[in-house]
Amino acid sequence: MTVTNRQAGTNVHEIADGIYRINTPVQAVSAAGFSFNQYLIVDDAPLLCHTGPRKMFPLVHQAVASVLPVERLRYIALSHVEADECGSLNEWLAAAPQSVPLCGTVAAAVSIGDRADRAPHALADA
Ligand SMILES: [Fe+2]
Repeated sequence: MTVTNRQAGTNVHEIADGIYRINTPVQAVSAAGFSFNQYLIVDDAPLLCHTGPRKMFPLVHQAVASVLPVERLRYIALSHVEADECGSLNEWLAAAPQSVPLCGTVAAAVSIGDRADRAPHALADA
């Protein structure tokens, strides 16, 4: 595990070959402890699964950049539309000019197609 921001405690852990968990603990949410997590899959078309909240973008960006050049990202994936899943989607699309949002058909039609600065790639329901 590599701590990429000592002040925030953001860290990166390769949990499987080429798959990284980015973790930022947030004490203010719960006294019992809470953390935001994103997953980075490094392959020919690297994918970031969930962006973290918009205000956490600098921390997640720093963590991703510790693994690969951010501009290599091709997909910014989200499972649903909430701040922790896609709060900094447009910041990521700007940082990785060849990336596109990756989401479900309904999210693409009702939210991401409107909110995102680039058109999403919609996946069919499983
Ligand atoms: Fe969420």
